[in-house]
Amino acid sequence: MTTRRKLVVGNWKMHGSHKANAELLEGLLSAGPSNADMAVCVPFPFLSEAAVALAASEIRWGAQDCSAHEQGAYTGEVSAAMLHEFGCRYVIVGHSERRAYHAESDQLVADKAKAALGKGITPIVCVGETLAQREAGETEAVVKRQLSAVIHTLGHCVGEMVVAYEPVWAIGTGKTASPEQAQAVHALLRAQLQAATPQAGAMKILYGGSVKPDNAATLFAQPDIDGGLIGGASLKAADFVAICRAAP
Ligand code: G3P
Repeated sequence: MTTRRKLVVGNWKMHGSHKANAELLEGLLSAGPSNADMAVCVPFPFLSEAAVALAASEIRWGAQDCSAHEQGAYTGEVSAAMLHEFGCRYVIVGHSERRAYHAESDQLVADKAKAALGKGITPIVCVGETLAQREAGETEAVVKRQLSAVIHTLGHCVGEMVVAYEPVWAIGTGKTASPEQAQAVHALLRAQLQAATPQAGAMKILYGGSVKPDNAATLFAQPDIDGGLIGGASLKAADFVAICRAAP
């Protein structure tokens, strides 16, 4: 019997404006309670307004990436220490869009997770296979390889991260993994974590990829799915709130 509380995190990606954010955050704040912990990961320039808007609420906020470096001549990078100054509770690392468009390696993702934890920020480490990899029967090998780098780099701190399984073929496509497909991979990831830390049973493994109000409940009902990492549907307050409310 699991006692893990669900966590639902909105990944706004590169969306937002002062006006749109104000409306969206107000919509979340006025929605009332849900069974899930809620968070939004916003673009860097909007961290300050998210912090101001959400400070007195139960909703946490975070960023979508951070540097593996502490400081220095790294133009365009943002450090975990800076995110900490903005009150970030979470930072997404290793999203497939970063891996694909910025050539982020498994080791770089692991180093970013370590940098985040070093500043008390929970990394949400994304793993997931492409459609070609799934069709080639490589799903297990791919996600295990991605998670393995993080496990080895974090060492005894591994239990402090959140993992997000995001099959690349389900992101922004409207093609959600079936609850059974997602659960199968989550169970693999849980087993891998169990071999690494006694805290594995308490760790959250989120599912991401076309989660919507109408499919969230069946996904969240799976024993190893501990919530969601939500892209498109996190940009509409009503949809994001409905997904959070789908948590049992
Ligand atoms: O990180 C969330 C994500 O990549 C899923 O996006 O739009 O399919 O919910 P979406």
